[in-house]
Amino acid sequence: MIISVIKETAKHEKRVALFPDVVSQLVKKNLEVYIEQDAGLASNFLDSSYVEAGAKVASSKDELLSTADILLAVQAPSRENLKKLKKGATLICFIWGLQNADLVSSLQELNISALGMDAIPRISRAQNMDALSSMSSIAGYKASLIAANELDKYFPMMMTAAGTIPPSKALILGAGVAGLQAIATCRKLGAVVEAFDVRPAVKEQVESLGAKFIEVELTDEETETKGGYAKELTDEDKLKQRELIHQHAKKSDVIITTALIPGRPAPLLITKEMVADMKPGSVIVDLAAENGGNCELTEAGSIKVVNEVKIVGPINLPSQLANHASTLYAKNMLALLNLLIKEGKPVFDFEDEILLNTTVTHNGEIISPLIKNN
Ligand code: NAI
Repeated sequence: MIISVIKETAKHEKRVALFPDVVSQLVKKNLEVYIEQDAGLASNFLDSSYVEAGAKVASSKDELLSTADILLAVQAPSRENLKKLKKGATLICFIWGLQNADLVSSLQELNISALGMDAIPRISRAQNMDALSSMSSIAGYKASLIAANELDKYFPMMMTAAGTIPPSKALILGAGVAGLQAIATCRKLGAVVEAFDVRPAVKEQVESLGAKFIEVELTDEETETKGGYAKELTDEDKLKQRELIHQHAKKSDVIITTALIPGRPAPLLITKEMVADMKPGSVIVDLAAENGGNCELTEAGSIKVVNEVKIVGPINLPSQLANHASTLYAKNMLALLNLLIKEGKPVFDFEDEILLNTTVTHNGEIISPLIKNN
């Protein structure tokens, strides 16, 4: 069976689906691995290191696509490329099926069995496949570094012969995987950190990282779904929350926002009035930029200065740490392949909760209950 790795072509995408160590593990299982020429170059994995690990470099993209039994990618390939796959081939990549109805229809029509790396259920057994967590953690880390870089102040307290500089204050909004990593990184850099999330369950995690959890009494106590995700707040609670954030924003040097609600636009947490009340020189890094932004003034892909406050709207932060992002993504991918491949071929066992939820299409049908019942 042939597992093939395509070179990513999307703008801002430097990651690659497999790195050489994972190739050698697949080759040991008697699987053939092909890579497209320079597939790993942007993340500093050279063709020669893939070949050393046992992969072959395909002579062309067309050959790579037409011979693949399983095609691995980070972003979904174009329809034109999907058409070149064999009927019944398997594709594993980020699919975001709920947001990409056209892609899902193409996968059905072309009879491609597609597994979405974004759809791995957040359960303990699937933790080693959880690409969303791997990538969110990188985003939280990188957002903190961007904030430190854009701020014209030290993060840590500095005692110098010229006097003592107090530490910077960072406010993290949303304490999921990205937010917790941002808290940890800002703390390591020496900032004083406060954090807020609508899910009270994260209070303990925030405090265990040495940050202060700021709380607001909400009217609706049900802020979390059964799956552990945040729900959208009532209008009354949104106002209460904004009032609280406003008070804390005024005192912050840095705000990193990471709040998301699955299937909904990102919640608006920072209004332009709040930005106007922030200290000159302070920095907002909005990790929700690609989903509409947590700050009213964010523009995805740019750094704006409004009232002397810098508002950064990064796109695809994991790609900025492409080498480690690819390493972790490939390890997540390997764990999923180990579950999928039985005796050298993919076996779609939908009794298995992970395969059921992750498989977007198979035999021309939509399988994932989340997409099917939408
Ligand atoms: P996410 O990326 O969907 O959202 C980020 C954070 O924003 C969440 O913590 C959410 O509560 C918060 N948020 C939403 N609306 C907000 C608002 N208005 N104000 C402030 N904060 C707001 O979350 P992520 O990181 O994907 O995690 C989602 C859930 O999955 C969490 O409960 C997490 O613990 C769980 N999880 C479980 C795993 C496992 O068991 N394998 C692995 C990773 C995450």
